[in-house]
Amino acid sequence: MKLLNLIAVPLVSAMVVRTQEQVPIVDDSKERIGIHPLREAREESAPIVGIHFTTSYAIASARYHNGTMRDLSKIAGDAQYTDTMSRWANGENDISRDCKDIESPQCRRSTAERSQRRQAGLPISHDAEILSVFMTKVHAVIEKDMGGPINVTAPAFPWLSPKLWDDLKSAIAHSGLLSTRRHGAIPVYREANAAYAARGYGLCEPSTNCISCTETLHSKKAETVLYLNFDNSSMSVGAMRAGSAFDDRATFSYGTDAKLGWWNLPVFEVPRAKFWAQIHEMIMAVVQPMARPPNKIILFGEHGADDEFKEVAKAAVWEVLEFDVDMMMGAVPKEDVAYLVARGAAEMGFRDEELMRQGLALRRDE
Ligand SMILES: *[C@@H]1O[C@H](CO)[C@@H](O)[C@H](O)[C@H]1NC(C)=O
Ligand SMILES: *[C@@H]1O[C@H](CO)[C@@H](O)[C@H](O)[C@H]1NC(C)=O
Ligand SMILES: *[C@@H]1O[C@H](CO)[C@@H](O)[C@H](O)[C@H]1NC(C)=O
Repeated sequence: MKLLNLIAVPLVSAMVVRTQEQVPIVDDSKERIGIHPLREAREESAPIVGIHFTTSYAIASARYHNGTMRDLSKIAGDAQYTDTMSRWANGENDISRDCKDIESPQCRRSTAERSQRRQAGLPISHDAEILSVFMTKVHAVIEKDMGGPINVTAPAFPWLSPKLWDDLKSAIAHSGLLSTRRHGAIPVYREANAAYAARGYGLCEPSTNCISCTETLHSKKAETVLYLNFDNSSMSVGAMRAGSAFDDRATFSYGTDAKLGWWNLPVFEVPRAKFWAQIHEMIMAVVQPMARPPNKIILFGEHGADDEFKEVAKAAVWEVLEFDVDMMMGAVPKEDVAYLVARGAAEMGFRDEELMRQGLALRRDE
């Protein structure tokens, strides 16, 4: 389990990665109406595809200029991808593994290897290469879904430690995808922010001036948000105070564990209760630093609206804050959680592209 309090000292412990269950995923396209259609978009801007990269698969949605949101394919990652992303979610890469002691020979070797790879025009690490290969595959599937070239996409990732950003940038650069977030310090959206945006929070009304609206969003009293992700290969929970959906610095406590994904949920009563108890504990640890009860709860991941999961989350929040989130959670439909992050990323990407088209060099979130 990895648990970190971003304003205190991160606690990191070991983690076992599940790679066995590689299930082929079938194409699954649906249409729906997007969030706050930008009606004034005049010329037909290209659709923006949001891609949620999870620890074991990617899932995509396209946002058209008229506001229509179309859900595209899910693409399963292979064992290498799942292993890499699960380590990344825990903040581990070659450098962090080899450079515990900066003076050690492993660290020197590892650092030298990176610069050699860079000079040779390769992704800077083996991890970056694995991600880049998967991204290339995802790109091809999306172009097939969309029936044409898609150059600009809006990728969303779990919370990633800043020490992974170079690997991430290198993977994106080698995959040929151009991110709508290419001008940010980190070239992707955070899944928590994308899920928040997908619920229509932290975004400007379509008719308003982007810049002044963003200032308003920043100055508004921030929402206290608890977000919970329950997926095949991971469980994560975070707390943030968020105004604008574009504010990346919003998370203040976060925990993730690749052993607590839905694939690991035991069938039998006793181990199952133990599994849920671990999730209960992790949610409590993340909720603890929240000074006040959440006024927004966001559930995402394929099993984010699972009834047992919701019960456990409810009980954990109650135990820490004596606050009942039943009403807030009850309203979330099961079929609405799997694509949530992809849709939110597509919406955020669309808006970033609109800003760029309007020549607004000023970034809204800076
Ligand atoms: C929006 O545009 C897409 C793609 O051009 C089209 O398929 C869809 O029918 C349009 N939706 C509406 C509500 O106009
Ligand atoms: C998109 O990429 C293709 C090649 O992958 C290129 O031919 C095309 O010009 C690009 N389109 C835009 C709008 O950049
Ligand atoms: C999650 O796992 C189940 C069962 O193994 C499978 O049916 C489903 O397609 C998986 N979902 C994803 C997105 O990988």
